[in-house]
Parts: sequence; structure tokens; C-alpha cells
Amino acid sequence: MAAAGRNGIELAGVSKIFGQGESEVTALSDVSFSIRDSEFVSVIGPSGCGKSTLLRILAGLIPYERGSVQVAGEPVHGALDPVGVVFQTSNLLPWLNVEENLTLALRVNGSDASAEQRAAMLGTLGLTGFEKRYPHELSGGMRHRVAIGQALIRDPAVLLMDEPFGALDALTRDHLNMELLRIWQARKKTVVLITHSISEAVLLSDRVLVLSERPGRLIEDVSIDLPRPRDPSDTREDPRFGDYIVQLSELMGVR
Ligand SMILES: Nc1ncnc2c1ncn2[C@@H]1O[C@H](COP(=O)(O)OP(=O)(O)O)[C@@H](O)[C@H]1O
Ligand SMILES: [Mg+2]
Repeated sequence: MAAAGRNGIELAGVSKIFGQGESEVTALSDVSFSIRDSEFVSVIGPSGCGKSTLLRILAGLIPYERGSVQVAGEPVHGALDPVGVVFQTSNLLPWLNVEENLTLALRVNGSDASAEQRAAMLGTLGLTGFEKRYPHELSGGMRHRVAIGQALIRDPAVLLMDEPFGALDALTRDHLNMELLRIWQARKKTVVLITHSISEAVLLSDRVLVLSERPGRLIEDVSIDLPRPRDPSDTREDPRFGDYIVQLSELMGVR
């Protein structure tokens, strides 16, 4: 396939309906967009507009009624190998420690991370020294960071993230935002980030897709023309950063 490149994403006319008859809910209506290989795209929209549904469709976890979806050149009908997913809530296995949870998906597939790779990932996540702890011994934010690491350590070509930083305090969030940018820049991943934070979307992305109230439709596709590499304090001082926040806030109806 073509336009979107090797690890790109193409959606055309995708609709998603849950339930039947009286209880029918249209979550997404005729959504089309394409994301190029190595592009960083955020998706924002009001609560309940179908953002998580969209991510689950891209991840091949749920079917869709209408339209077509291609990820990394493959039509999506199930989970694809080059795709890593970080969900809104972390699902660590309680009987495995941090290190074992971190490398679980690799080990299920018969491989593993080297000691250096584990140590580097634990450092990135700010979890050095916690490798032998069990999930119940960690804070919610730490558990969440392990879940982010579970996806990153597989080094997927396409990374799909559903509000991964929502539960974290502002400082940890800034730190992980920058780590994500560093990893993205170094490893050339295609990233789709769902976030409810307009400023996070602007800080990180090449483009921000704005969904309407349910049923989610694409109402705007905003290119973020800010220089890279970005840095939370410098980028936020750029007057264009404020302009994008105003523009997106207006689209979201929060101003
Ligand atoms: N498995 C499901 N069964 C029925 N309805 C669902 C299901 N998943 C999501 N929905 C509905 O679809 C709509 C969009 O949900 P979701 O994608 O989770 O929104 P968001 O992530 O934007 O908050 C909501 O009305 C939600 O109740
Ligand atoms: Mg959601």
C-alpha cells in the first residue's frame, strides 16, 4: 500500500455501532484519516465520543461495521504484530514483579529483553530499584509507568496509547512526555495518542485530530507547526503554542 507509507495508518469511512435495536449506540460515524509512517498524531474529543473505541479498532481488538482500516500496510481484522498498545487502565499481573511484568509480552513470544535493555527501560520509567516489587507495593502512577514500559520494551513500529498519562502528576507527566518524544524521535515510530489534555496534544504532536460529541466524527485536523526537538518549558513559551491551545479549545467548546 501506498499513501501512508510502511508503518502508516489509513481509515476510510469507519463507523462503529454497539448493541442492537433500543440499546443501539453509534460510537463512531464515517471517520476517515490517514497517518504517515513515523508521524505523531493525537486524538482529542469530549468524553464518550468514541476515542477508546477508535483506538481499539486500530489495535484490531474490536470489529467495525463499515469502512476500512489499514495499519502498517495490513487490513486490520485482528491484533497485528508491529502494533503496541497502552490502555487507559494498567492490567499488571499481581503475582509477577515489575521486571517480570515489564517483559511479559516478550517472554510470551519466546524472546526476552537483555539486562541492559531492562535497566534502560526501568531508568526511563523512573523505576530503577523497584524491579523486584509487586504491583500491590507500587503507587497507581508507578503501575501505570510499568504498563507504558510493557508496550515500549517491545519496540513496536506503531504505538497506540489511550490516555496513558492521565493518572500521573504533572511532573511525572512532563518527564514521560519527553521520554516518549525521545523514543519516538530515536526509533521512528508511528504514534497515535488519545489524550484529554489539549496542551499535551500540542506539545507532542505533528497533528491533532479533533472528534465531535458522540457519535464521534472527525471535525478538524490541525497541523502543529512548532519546531522540534521540543521541550515543555520552551515550547509552552512559544506564542504559537498558545494560539493552538485557543484554536483547539474553541473546537472542543471549552472556551
Ligand atoms: N463494549 C461496549 N458496548 C456498548 N457500548 C460501548 C462499548 N464500548 C463503548 N461503548 C459506548 O460507546 C461510546 C464511546 O465510548 P468510548 O470509545 O469509550 O469513548 P471515549 O473513550 O471517547 O470516552 C460511549 O457511549 C460508550 O458508552
Ligand atoms: Mg476512553
